[in-house]
Amino acid sequence: MAILGFGKKSSEGDEQLKIPVSLGVIMDGNGRWAKKRMLPRSAGHRAGAENLKELCRNCGNYGVKYLTVYAFSTENWSRPDDEVNTLMDLFVEFWEKYDPELEQEGIRVRFTGDIDALPERIKEVCRKGEERSKNRQKMQLIVAFNYGGRREIVHSCKNIARLVKEGKLDIDDINEDTISGNLYLPDVPDPDLIIRPSGEQRLSNFLLWESAYSELWVSDCLWPDFGFEELTEAFRAYTNRDRRFGGLSKEEKK
Ligand code: FPP
Repeated sequence: MAILGFGKKSSEGDEQLKIPVSLGVIMDGNGRWAKKRMLPRSAGHRAGAENLKELCRNCGNYGVKYLTVYAFSTENWSRPDDEVNTLMDLFVEFWEKYDPELEQEGIRVRFTGDIDALPERIKEVCRKGEERSKNRQKMQLIVAFNYGGRREIVHSCKNIARLVKEGKLDIDDINEDTISGNLYLPDVPDPDLIIRPSGEQRLSNFLLWESAYSELWVSDCLWPDFGFEELTEAFRAYTNRDRRFGGLSKEEKK
């Protein structure tokens, strides 16, 4: 995990923060943000998309290497057609509008989820976005779109079953690494920290396998209002966490 250098970027000036290498964010609260302003839900999603661009910039500057954001779940199809269409349109618009800025920031874009099941125009955006950004080095933005943690585990199991059926893998050799290695993006490290704005305290099917030892941090702030200060507060809390991964803390081992 990266340790932030002296005084770098933190709002407290000389504060040292421990920065997660891999960060997950559940972008929740767009609807409530819009309702508070008597605006349609679509306005909340639009404000949420704009805030995603800010989050990318802040995370890149802080030294996060992998940022995974939950943009559309496998369960979000049950929302009214209008809202689903708005989210699909926003998805297409986002890259047209912000990719030049992401490029300037050196942000590579990847997608995770059941991408094959998405409409062709969305798949095209995913393919082009990944291709266009593949040589960018500063940070990877991983957009979970039509993503469900359970569906991802099923995907991994099916891959493994196929390998067994083809005689390429012995059942007794299946272990945790086999499951991890057959997830959608096996090279992306498990999230060190998962942030959920809007006060809900659940994972909602986000990175279920990968989050086994993730630190969780929730905030009452609604996603479109979640800015640099809230991100810094989350990193401050993370800095003070004692990650034991089922073992003992450094103090207890002494
Ligand atoms: C949850 O808030 C948010 C979503 C289901 C969509 C998240 C999408 C964005 C932030 C914009 C997408 C941008 C791109 C580029 C894909 P909610 O609607 O459930 O809010 P509520 O709980 O307050 O109703």
